[in-house]
Amino acid sequence: VDISHFVTRPPVVTIMGHVDHGKTSLLDKIRSSKVASGEAGGITQHISAYTIEQSGQKITFVDTPGHAAFSAMRARGADVTDIVIIVVAADDGVMPQTEEVISHAKASGCPIIVAVNKMDKETANMDMVKAQMAEREMTPVDWGGDVEFIGVSAHTGMGIDDLLENILLQAEILELKADPKAKVKAAVVEASLEKGRGPVATVIVQNGILRLGDNIVCDTTYGRVKAITNDLGKPVKELGLSETGTVLGLNEVPAAGAIMVGQDSDKEARDIATKRAEHARAKELSKSTKVSLEEMSGLIAEGKIKQLPVIIKTDVAGSLEAIKGSLEKIQNDEVKVKVVHAGVGGITESDLVLASASEGCIILGFNVRPTGSVKNKAKADGVTINTYSIIYDLIDDVKDALSGMMS
Ligand code: GTP
Ligand code: NA
Ligand code: MG
Repeated sequence: VDISHFVTRPPVVTIMGHVDHGKTSLLDKIRSSKVASGEAGGITQHISAYTIEQSGQKITFVDTPGHAAFSAMRARGADVTDIVIIVVAADDGVMPQTEEVISHAKASGCPIIVAVNKMDKETANMDMVKAQMAEREMTPVDWGGDVEFIGVSAHTGMGIDDLLENILLQAEILELKADPKAKVKAAVVEASLEKGRGPVATVIVQNGILRLGDNIVCDTTYGRVKAITNDLGKPVKELGLSETGTVLGLNEVPAAGAIMVGQDSDKEARDIATKRAEHARAKELSKSTKVSLEEMSGLIAEGKIKQLPVIIKTDVAGSLEAIKGSLEKIQNDEVKVKVVHAGVGGITESDLVLASASEGCIILGFNVRPTGSVKNKAKADGVTINTYSIIYDLIDDVKDALSGMMS
């Protein structure tokens, strides 16, 4: 690969956290605009992205919804991101979706910054938040860990410069590079069908430059870029590295999370998309995408994979700790269990979303069962759920899978 064209690109930062902990307000303050107050019911229900400038350097932010129902969007946010910011309200502390985003953030492998928001409130308690996060292996730097905690207020603006400088510092360490001369590649963070405009895709450019007139393929959709608007809704001719905006011109609405790639001709774009659509239909028909514990065991035996991603759900916290602890201790020739998420409670749709986002991930339930609708959805999504009522059966199954004995 000729790396002579590579330049430093701006970081893409995803903001995640529990509902109403102030993600959108924080971004509003950063952009000095008023998005949150214009939202229906003050709830974010889609992913949005903005590019700002701090000390002459660009940063692209992705805002995600905190409501429990939007797990898929949080997973998608974590997918396109370089740095994750977990927002925790200083008065509320760690809540269910905070726990979920910790799992997403860890799975993404990105550096994490914790923004402790609402520090203007009298009931704000930074130490409580730090203690709660430390319990979840998110130990603050000043407590001997490696996670930066920054106190902020979206209302007064306190700490925001500190947060932005920290982001730029992390970005520098990451040495983010891309090639503006390469074929354009952009990630779709959101897409919809708009009246009078057709399919509209919100994208973040990952490589190259996206220009008007470009021939593009986006998963099974294709087209020619006929209009681009930037994050302020202004028409522009192009989007540069890590920049975000909306693109018009695709023949259909692409799946969120799809990657848009530039092609040399419209014929090429159409051919690739058509072939992919046919392939997708064939795969849909055969429906053999589900990966079982036995199959994962086979892949381990063949040395094709080095880890077994799992989600653990149990009826009580005690057994969760016990199972998690035991599974993390099992290790055979560098093959290990990767706990994508562990929680107390029934197996839910949100668990399925997390499992789908992590290849080969299996859900292990102890004394909990999926409801009928979750069971059906798991079947449709190709997610394996194994349930147990004896702890040792669960642990033995995983041990066998890791040693490749199940295949
Ligand atoms: P979802 O997108 O629905 O998950 O919420 P969000 O995390 O984006 O929170 P949002 O910005 O909608 O803020 C929720 C509420 O908290 C609003 O009433 C805000 O005015 C308030 N709020 C946000 N930040 C602060 C802050 O720093 N201080 C105080 N006092 N209130 C805040
Ligand atoms: Na909100
Ligand atoms: Mg919001």
